[in-house]
Parts: sequence; structure tokens; C-alpha cells
Amino acid sequence: MRVVSVVGARPQFVKLAPVAVAAAAAGVEHVIVHTGQHYDAAMSDVFFDDLHIPAPDVHLGIGSGSHGVQTGAMLAALEGVLAQQAPDWVLVYGDTNSTLAAALAAVKIHLPVAHLEAGLRSFNRRMPEEHNRVLTDHAADLLLAPTQVAADHLRDEGLAARTVVVGDVMTDVCLSVRDAVHAGRVAVTQQVAGDHVVATIHRADNTDDPDRLRSIVAGLGGLGVPVLLLVHPRLRDRAAAFGIALDQGGIVPAEPLPYPQMVAAVLASRAVITDSGGLQKEAYLLDRPCVTLRTETEWVETLQDGWNVLVPHPGDLAAAVARPRPAVPRRMPFGDGHAADRVIAALSESHVVIM
Ligand code: UD1
Repeated sequence: MRVVSVVGARPQFVKLAPVAVAAAAAGVEHVIVHTGQHYDAAMSDVFFDDLHIPAPDVHLGIGSGSHGVQTGAMLAALEGVLAQQAPDWVLVYGDTNSTLAAALAAVKIHLPVAHLEAGLRSFNRRMPEEHNRVLTDHAADLLLAPTQVAADHLRDEGLAARTVVVGDVMTDVCLSVRDAVHAGRVAVTQQVAGDHVVATIHRADNTDDPDRLRSIVAGLGGLGVPVLLLVHPRLRDRAAAFGIALDQGGIVPAEPLPYPQMVAAVLASRAVITDSGGLQKEAYLLDRPCVTLRTETEWVETLQDGWNVLVPHPGDLAAAVARPRPAVPRRMPFGDGHAADRVIAALSESHVVIM
């Protein structure tokens, strides 16, 4: 079996890591195509190095642009690459513009498409990720759902027959890196000593409106506890353009971290504030309360028992961070840490004939 994985943005590299290991173990011919959506070394190369992912076989070097320009350039470039590879499966990951471009390119030339992390929904039609998820799920032939909640969404949209629940591959990585940190196998650079919070902000809805971004940064700066703010390029660019200083109050701005150091930073913190999907889940898996600066989340399981809370208004951040730690232990809704093996098994066992 030959599988082409198409990735391009930071969270997709994390998802790719365990799939690459599982593919190698099963003797699957695995070709990696990088669209180039993320191109900064700190957003791309370090993930390949630290998570021991084989170097991409093909790098398209597309880079940044408006949604149409970026997605269109990827679509055009991927068509020839996928046609030439003629794989048994094109595997697409998550909800970025790279995901949609690859699904569309493959389906148009009658190649079977599998969507890893299928069925997540925010039901917020303003989010580019929501467009990408819905369109990719309806284009794909095999829907690899991380949770039962995701599978239920797919069933509600008439897609049950194509759905397999495999568990969450990010959990595979997170738990094994957590164990490596605990075993002292990760070089930890302590950027803020003592009691502190780790924060990331990068969603367009939070970064692209100057008034909202100003109030978020003021809210983070005024928490009364130091905040290690890991600055995504979008946040860096928008804050500079709007003249918003990121080192206000208790904020300690820092570059984005490689994955193992990110896990170590969360483990060293008291709590997490974020608008990322992955980090909400990582906080949960790493036993840290989370505050999500959004009106909704795709990972609703994290909200159970108050481990994660949705706080759309920056003025409410301080109270949310100060809330007591949940008394109820966390559950295991995201799988057992072996989802990638099930992904490869599902690809091997599913046969799609496209007439
Ligand atoms: C993308 C995904 C989002 C995911 C996020 C993880 C889409 C629609 N969104 O958002 O779901 O959570 O990745 O980070 O695909 N930039 C750089 N260097 C880089 C990459 C980006 O400077 O290596 C800057 C550019 O100014 C670019 C901006 O960041 O315009 C945004 O990058 P983009 O790829 O458009 O989306 P993300 O915001 O990273």
C-alpha cells in the first residue's frame, strides 16, 4: 500500500509524526508532501527534527497568502504531484487550507482520500477551519474520527458509512513526549520560573481586530500572575501593525516552542490560556486547567468537569484563571495513545473503488 500524507501547518506535523512511525512499522510506502503553508523554521523544521519525522519527499513552497490565493496555489501544485504518485490513499490532516487543497486535488483526479481528525465541528461558520473541516469531510472517502462526539457529527451529516473511530493521534504524541519529559529525556529551557501561566493566541477572530487584540493583551498582562506568551507569527505581525506592545504587565513574550519544550512548558505551568484546538487538549492530557479565549470549542470533551472553560471576554480572564482546580479527575475521551496504528489498519482494510 502506498499512502501520500499532505501536511503544511504546525499542528499537522505533530499529527504526522505517529502516523509516519506506524506506517514504517507496517511496511507501508509512505510519501510526505509539505505544502509550505508554514515555512518559518520554528513553525516547521524543528517539528520534523524533534519528532523524528522523515524529511518531506516533496516540498511545494507555497507560503502565505489570502485564503483563496493560498488554497488555490496548493490545489494547482498538488494535482500534478498526486497524479504522479498515484497512491492507494491520500491522507489529509485536520482543518487547515493545506487539508482542503489536498482533499480537493485528490478527489478531482479520482484518488481515494482519507481525512484524519474528521468530524470536529465548532458550528462557527466564521472560522476558516470550519469551512475546511466540513468541505473536507464531505469530499473524503474514509473519515478517521478521533472521538465518538466527532463520529456523531458525521452521522448527523449522513456520513456514518464512511466513518471509523480511531482515537486522537495527537494524544499518541503528547503522552509519549510527556513520559520523555518526566524521564528527563527532554532538554527543558525554563523561560519563566515559579508560578505562571502559558498562553498562545493566533486565531484570526482574536488577532485581526485591533480593539479585540488590545483587550486580550491587556487582559493577559493584568492577570496578577506571570504569563509566558508564545508568539505565533500571525500575532507578532498583527500586534506590530496595530502598535500593541506584547510585553505589558506580567507578560513574558517568547518565540514559539518546539513540541517537546511546549509539553515541558505546560507541565511547568499552573494553567493554560489559548485559542488553539490542540493546546486545549494537551492541557487536558497534561493535567492542567485551561481557559479558551473563544465562544466555542471543537474539543467539547475538555469542558467536562470544568477542566477547560470558554471565556470569550478578555475582562473575564483573571477570574477564570483563578478558579479552583477541578475536583473530578480527568477522563480518557481521546483514545489510548495508539490511534496511529488504527489509522494505518483502517487504511489497509478499507477499499474504495472510484468508477
Ligand atoms: C493555520 C491554520 C490554523 C492552525 C494554525 C496553526 C488555516 C486556515 N489555519 O493558521 O487552523 O491552527 O495554522 O498555527 O489553514 N506566518 C509566518 N511564518 C510561517 C507561517 C505563517 O510568518 O511560517 C505568518 C504570515 O504572516 C501568515 C500568517 O502567519 O500570513 C498566518 O499564517 P497562515 O498559514 O495563513 O495561517 P495560520 O494563522 O498559521
